Amino acid sequence: MFFKKVLGFFSNDLAIDLGTANTLVFLRNKGVVCDEPSVVAVDKRKNRVLAVGSEAKRMLGKTPSYIQAVRPMKDGVIADFDITGEMLKYFIAKVHNRTAFVSPRIVIGVPSAITQVERRAVRDAAEASGAREIFLIEEPMAAAMGVGLPIDEPYGNMIVDIGGGTSDVAVISLSGIVCSKAVRVGGDKMDEAIVNYIKKTYSLLVGDRTAEQIKIEIGSAIEIDKSDLSMEIKGRDLISGIPKTVTITEDEVRDALAESVSLIVETIKITLENTPPELASDIVDRGIVIAGGGALLRGLDHLLRKETDLPVVIADDPLSSVVVGVGKALDDLDLLKRVSIY
Ligand SMILES: Nc1ncnc2c1ncn2[C@@H]1O[C@H](COP(=O)(O)OP(=O)(O)OP(=O)(O)O)[C@@H](O)[C@H]1O
Ligand SMILES: [Mg+2]
Repeated sequence: MFFKKVLGFFSNDLAIDLGTANTLVFLRNKGVVCDEPSVVAVDKRKNRVLAVGSEAKRMLGKTPSYIQAVRPMKDGVIADFDITGEMLKYFIAKVHNRTAFVSPRIVIGVPSAITQVERRAVRDAAEASGAREIFLIEEPMAAAMGVGLPIDEPYGNMIVDIGGGTSDVAVISLSGIVCSKAVRVGGDKMDEAIVNYIKKTYSLLVGDRTAEQIKIEIGSAIEIDKSDLSMEIKGRDLISGIPKTVTITEDEVRDALAESVSLIVETIKITLENTPPELASDIVDRGIVIAGGGALLRGLDHLLRKETDLPVVIADDPLSSVVVGVGKALDDLDLLKRVSIY
């Protein structure tokens, strides 16, 4: 008992948001200390990890054949167990250098749709990096905690977390998820839709990273003002094979994104329909909070207001809601035990 207390005192406990697009690490008493893309570059000849995070993302789509830059988490689930493990180990080691005396307690936010086998894999990877105790929290619960919703109270709180791989919708009351629905549509599907639109309309091939830039710079969910944004894009002509430039407008991008956006809106509507009436009436008063990088898509809040007639609020820092929520659990062991899953 005494030893546990001393250990707890010296160790640097960690909170991690293991996201499809980005992995964030939160260190107790320090805040977010690492925020990097969930990408790993592997040398296939030697079966060795070459780079992780931003450095590996820069290599995406630009590697010689023996190097493979991969995103080990796809569609909100773990596509490659070994590489996810390597990535997790790398991030933990990075923030947890020699200043730590003993192995930390680690709390990890995981997609709500992950299977028992995947949970096991996440636990194993965290254990291999020297964790003393491991807790898992479902991402929508963590996001709700991160944005400061009163999850403990007997009120319905609706949180929507739109990430790279999945969009999670959950209604939380009394520290539990009352009803939820996840859809494997998020920022990645939007990028893909832009790639396909440009391919079909201009016979131009662009990479995912270019598509993501287009989405962030001129993408929108609804026409809000007449801003007439456009963007010059470079890619490879599918017919001649030669690099060329075309100009794409915000209206075109909005059309390309429409299907993904409407799937997210549908998921929210279905969850609202499945919400018990007492909690539904709380949501009418308190509204919906949207988090995750996708919440930053221009006009998404407007569209949701229009489609649901409910108040909609964008989280203050949507990209870190989950990790901040997981971080809060580090300070409150009772809360941690109530909200963690096995
Ligand atoms: N301004 C923006 N407009 C639209 N999309 C954005 C914006 N900024 C970031 N994104 C998108 O948000 C996504 C990343 O969000 P986030 O980091 O919350 O995902 P994640 O937690 O890694 O994924 P998941 O929760 O599905 O595992 C990316 O697809 C990114 O392109
Ligand atoms: Mg996420």
